[in-house]
Amino acid sequence: MKIQFHGHSCVEIHHESARIIIDPFISPNPMAKTSADDVQVDHILLTHGHADHVADALAIARRNNATIVANAELAGYFAGQGVSAIPMNTGGSVDLGFGRVRLTPAVHSSSLAIEDTRQIIYLGNPNGFIIKLGGKTLYHAGDTDLFLDMKLIGERNDIDVAFLPIGDHFTMGPDDAVAAAEWVRAGLVIPIHYNTFPPIRQDAAAFVAALGSKGIKGQVVEVGQVIEL
Ligand code: NI
Ligand code: MN
Repeated sequence: MKIQFHGHSCVEIHHESARIIIDPFISPNPMAKTSADDVQVDHILLTHGHADHVADALAIARRNNATIVANAELAGYFAGQGVSAIPMNTGGSVDLGFGRVRLTPAVHSSSLAIEDTRQIIYLGNPNGFIIKLGGKTLYHAGDTDLFLDMKLIGERNDIDVAFLPIGDHFTMGPDDAVAAAEWVRAGLVIPIHYNTFPPIRQDAAAFVAALGSKGIKGQVVEVGQVIEL
């Protein structure tokens, strides 16, 4: 399994015939090392409607004839733009052919600002994803605060890799993310949602060191880097 970090919360996963991207925010990301035009996927998983998670979703979906997987309102929004979308809701799971994807809770919000009309539309509740693929279980927490049900997520899933936001300001910060990692009990924790903009600047190496002091394995994955699982 190959996992590429495109920066911010954007993670692309390829395993055998499965080609997935989560929260594509590449073309507007000043830190990006890759191009959204090069992304080849069949499924686009969206945690919530904020622009820093869905910016490239429509273009990638159209170019690849890919299916968007998201909460009902967000999926409906993209289906209304003519792309294939699977609507879900929190706690639900679907079989996408390569494996199962489940929507987990997240403590955040989910809206999209429409620039033309200056309207903000609300697009359901925010989520994370549990992805079961190739014998591995991945947890992408989305944008979220620390919440106690992460304990439940850790108890009920044998998570190999957890992607946790550490940026603070819009999500939990590093201290709470360490607590989240203790509850989620993943084999490997990868920090996301930091350093993209000045308000979410964080020391990811210090976060990984803090994980290490709790006996938890963490890894800073550089923007554009591919890791093998
Ligand atoms: Ni957000
Ligand atoms: Mn965000």
